[in-house]
Order: sequence, then C-alpha cells, then structure tokens
Amino acid sequence: MKVIVIGTGYVGLVTGACLAEVGTQVVCVDVNAEKINNLQKGILPIYEPGLEEIVSRNYQNGRLSFSTDLASVIGGATIAFIAVGTPPGEDGSADLQYVLQVAKEIGTNMSDYLVVVTKSTVPVGTAVKVNREIKQAMLDRGALIDYDVASNPEFLKEGAAVQDFLKPDRIVVGVNTDRAKETLEQLYHPFLLNGRPIIFMDIASAEMTKYAANAMLATKISFINDIANLCELVGADVNQVRKGIGSDARIGTSFIYPGIGYGGSCFPKDVKALVKTGKEYGHGLRILEAVEAVNNDQKKVLFNKIYKHFDGLLQGRTFAMWGLSFKPGTDDMREASSLVLINSLLEAGATVQVFDPVAMHEAGKTLKDSVKWCKDMYEAAAGADAVLLVTEWNEFRLPDWPRVKQLLKASVVFDGRNIYDNAYLHKQGFTCYSIGLSQSTVGVLS
Ligand code: NAD
Ligand code: UGA
Repeated sequence: MKVIVIGTGYVGLVTGACLAEVGTQVVCVDVNAEKINNLQKGILPIYEPGLEEIVSRNYQNGRLSFSTDLASVIGGATIAFIAVGTPPGEDGSADLQYVLQVAKEIGTNMSDYLVVVTKSTVPVGTAVKVNREIKQAMLDRGALIDYDVASNPEFLKEGAAVQDFLKPDRIVVGVNTDRAKETLEQLYHPFLLNGRPIIFMDIASAEMTKYAANAMLATKISFINDIANLCELVGADVNQVRKGIGSDARIGTSFIYPGIGYGGSCFPKDVKALVKTGKEYGHGLRILEAVEAVNNDQKKVLFNKIYKHFDGLLQGRTFAMWGLSFKPGTDDMREASSLVLINSLLEAGATVQVFDPVAMHEAGKTLKDSVKWCKDMYEAAAGADAVLLVTEWNEFRLPDWPRVKQLLKASVVFDGRNIYDNAYLHKQGFTCYSIGLSQSTVGVLS
C-alpha cells in the first residue's frame, strides 16, 4: 500500500516514519524545501526520541521518501493524510487555510481512488469542507475520480511520539463508506496487537473526539493546579492529595501533576478552538473558559512566588533557569511557560541565565540575546540569586546540591514542577518553594 503524508511536521513525520516501519510505502510531502532537503540528508527538523533512527532506517531501505512536489508523487497512492498545521486564528478558531489548500491540491492532482484522511486537529465540519475543495478542484479540470474523505485524529504526545504512534491506546477513525473503513483497517492492522482497539465512528464524532480528549486532559491539569493553589492557603500538600485522589481508578494517576501551566502547540490552541466552536453554536463551554483562565494565571505562579520572596525587589537580580521547553523530551517552545516567566523577570529588571539540554537552539530564535545562554545547569546557577526549575528534564532531578549551594548567591530554589524533595532541601539549608505546598508544612511530615 502506498501512502502520502502531506505536512512533514511533528505529526506528519512521525506518522510517515512509523507507517514505513511496519512495511507501508510512504512519501512525506512538505512545502518547506529546506525541511525536505535536510530530511533527504538525514537531518531532522525536530528533536523527538527514537525518531531519527526510524527515519534513517526506512529512508535507506526505500520505504520512506520525501518530496516537495505532491503532483509527482501522488500517483498510485491509496491514502493521503493531511497533517498540516491548524494554528489559532485571531479569534481563537482553528485556521483551516493550510488544510483546505492541501485538499485543493489533492483534488487537482489525484489520478486514482484515494482515501483522503484528515490527521490534523480540525473542528467538526471540516471534512465537509475538505470534500467540497476536492470536488471543486476535480470539476475545474473536468475529472471524475472516486474518493472518500475520512477523519483520523492523532493522539501522540511530543517527547513520546514514536512510542505513542507504534503502541496507541486506541486509533479513532471517522468514516462514511465501507471502502474507506476497510482501507484504513488494513493500514492500521499492524498497530492493533495486544488488543489495542481501532474505534470506527462517524466523521463528525471523530473530529469532536480529538478536541474532547485534549480538553479533558487540559481540564485535569487546571483542576489540580487550582487545588494546588488552595492547598498552599490551607496548609495542605498537593503531592499527598494527588496520590490520595489518583489511587481512585475513576480519577486515575495521570495528568494530575500540578505545575506552572500547560503549554505546547495543542492544549492552549485546542481549548480555545473548542470554546470558539461552542460560541458559534450558542453554547458557552463554561468549564473550558475557566480551564483556560486558570492556566493563564498558573503561568504566573512562579513569578509571584519569586516576587514575594524578594519583596518585589527584582531589579539587578540574577536567576538560573533550568529548562525552557514546554515539557521534557522535546525542543518545542510553543506556548512554553518559560517564556512567560522570562518575560516577567526581564520586565522587572532581572537577568536570566538559562540552560536546557535540547531546546536552546529553538528557544534562541525567540529569546535571542535577552538572556544569558549557559553550557549546563551549574553555569546557569553561578552567581544567581535563586534556581528556577521550569522543565523537569531527568538530568535536573538530582543535582549536586552542595555544588549548587556554593555557586548560588543565596540558597533559594523555586521548583515549578514539584520534582524536588522539599523537606530534604530544607535540611540542606535551602529555602525551597514548590507548587501546592505551603511553606509552613515543609519538613513537618518528612
Ligand atoms: P507542524 O507545524 O510541526 O508541521 C506542519 C507542517 O505542514 C510544516 O512542516 C509545514 O511546512 C507543512 N505545510 C503547511 N502547508 C503545507 C502544504 N500546503 N503542503 C505541504 N505541507 C504544508 O505541525 P504539527 O505539530 O505536526 O501539527 C499538525 C497538526 O496535527 C495540527 O493540527 C496539530 O494540532 C495536530 N496535532 C499535533 C500534535 C503534536 O504533538 N504536535 C499531536 C496531535 C495532533
Ligand atoms: C498533548 C496530548 O497529551 C496528546 O494526546 C495530543 O495528541 C497532543 O497534545 C496534541 O493534540 O498535540 P503534548 O502537548 O505533546 O500532548 O504534551 P503533554 O504531555 O500532554 O503535555 C502538555 C502540557 O501539559 C505540558 O506543558 C506539560 O508540562 C503539562 N502537564 C501535563 C502538566 O502540567 N501536568 C500533567 O499532569 C501533565
């Protein structure tokens, strides 16, 4: 089976590489010629654990190839995935211009029966628009070729994208013909080992499932962040509360880690887009509006703690920031909480010394020379008034604390991800702030 994946970003590249890995013939297409040239030389546009190896193996064995020219590679394909970006428009709704542009190109260039599958995250009703674009493009050239439109939202997480794709919790597919259903069932057969389900449904429900899933996960995060902030006020420890509630299987242990707000290219934009869809239909999604508001405030929580600790006197102070990316395992800086914190610190007249194991290059595109770039976490700590732990990369989990203490001007740690043993640090002579743990309870139960 030959498959075309249009849009070779996080989702498109992972999809193309993983489909090739199980034997499918895949061509990844992108308008960005530099990206395609680099991929042909084995240079990946993103950092994603395990991806380079799969891309290189399948490129070399000829199952995976790259092109900028859809017209020349679409012939003989059975499935075309649309995996381009759907960034937020000014009003928060998903901008569908890239998706519809690709649909038009497909209609202009296809020559045989094709299942056109939207993998990008798109609002309900997009498949209808995609269908319209394809039909119109075919009419314009007087062609009459059979095709189906389907929806197959992607649930991978950055930093674990390859594993998520190869071993999905489930695969959701929205179809309205048996032919499309059978074609996609065949394609995904190799991924359904060990009882992993493929869930077929109607197209609108598949489109909605993607937004509902991200909105539910974002809700869990904002909920625990709200509870964490209350824990601080009442003298409770959110880490204990998290364990206490997570052991109830109905609640579950995942996605209830408090922190400094969710970032990334999806939760922020998808929550906004779903709220917008609700408004379009006259149905206010009040919970999600609150989820978004709580998250915006949560991105300021660490700065507020810093401000309070230093009695508002931040002018001329220096801070060591450990981590920049929106989560570990990726160099993605989109909507990263680090950017909000850096901005506030700079505005207050402070200097920020930063280190991230992977995202320095990506972060440099936005931050330029506004911060001091350091070669490791210890250089960042040198001469700083405090350490700010922003992204929970593994290498930050067990620092050489005596060395850090020597390097810092004052022994203060602001832990934005609750990875440190607060009571232990307290005993080592540090003042340590975390999320959802009041200072009065530090050390009491250790
Ligand atoms: P991305 O920005 O990393 O990649 C999009 C790619 O599409 C870019 O390389 C761009 O050059 C290319 N492109 C744009 N117009 C094109 C055209 N006309 N023809 C060919 N290529 C074109 O985006 P992404 O993060 O992979 O996200 C893609 C979609 O998948 C979005 O809708 C997103 O919400 C969704 N999604 C993303 C993730 C994730 O973890 N990043 C996970 C699940 C779903
Ligand atoms: C998220 C979803 O988890 C994927 O299923 C989905 O496919 C993807 O969005 C998408 O649609 O693009 P991703 O954004 O890559 O994946 O990363 P997550 O692991 O979900 O983390 C998102 C943000 O939430 C990060 O900033 C992370 O630090 C934060 N988070 C996550 C918390 O603050 N607490 C948690 O318990 C979990």
